[in-house]
Amino acid sequence: MRKRIVAGNWKMNKTYEEALSLVSEIDNMVRDEVNGDVTVIVAPPFPFLQSVGKLTQGNDLMHLAAQNISEHDSGAFTGEVSASMLKSVGTEYVIIGHSERRMYHHEDAQTLYKKLKAAIAQGIKPIFCCGEPLEERDADRHFEYVGKQLHDSLSYLSNEEFDQVTVAYEPIWAIGTGRTASSQQAQEMHAYIREQLSRMFDAEAAHNTSILYGGSCNPSNAQELFAQPDVDGGLIGGASLKSRDFTDIIKSF
Ligand code: PGA
Repeated sequence: MRKRIVAGNWKMNKTYEEALSLVSEIDNMVRDEVNGDVTVIVAPPFPFLQSVGKLTQGNDLMHLAAQNISEHDSGAFTGEVSASMLKSVGTEYVIIGHSERRMYHHEDAQTLYKKLKAAIAQGIKPIFCCGEPLEERDADRHFEYVGKQLHDSLSYLSNEEFDQVTVAYEPIWAIGTGRTASSQQAQEMHAYIREQLSRMFDAEAAHNTSILYGGSCNPSNAQELFAQPDVDGGLIGGASLKSRDFTDIIKSF
């Protein structure tokens, strides 16, 4: 069964106290207002993972994600955080391949593949991001571009490994810009992604994979986006930092 998912990517925002009050507010609102048919994920910065995870432990709808993971298991990799470390503090999901990591940290397809493997080996579920820059869309090469991103990092996984993966389509021109993809643009890309996945993996796995939309998703546009047949939820940046907006997005299914 395809899961409905709303994930909040906090990026490099909030102090410890602010993070705890944000997650407490979200936790309370989700308990009071959200029915049981949605998976809510919060991805705070590394130092807050354990405390945020503890606060949401009693809430079955809420799950903990990291924003990054090392492709290495352990050893002399200063500043890196391994899959087993993340697992040991209760991390269930990890965002891999976000455009900001591809761009500012030069993470290439091969590195992302290794990160996918490292996460899955520890039982952490990857949220794999893909999405084209504006010039690729303007040149009408967006399908090809995203297809290549999927192929270059995901296609080497086994069917069993792929079963653990959620995909997020995040057109770069829509991230943090206030310019959302239209529901039609999102749907046609999500359908294309699902078709590509069905060529790489078995058809049932592709059918059951949740594909999230990300890029200026907010309480006013979430309902229309989530109503599309191949849009199974959202990966939310800016609006996930406000408990009311994030909860309203969760309630948009
Ligand atoms: P945004 O970010 O919602 O602020 O556009 C989305 C993301 O980068 O995951």
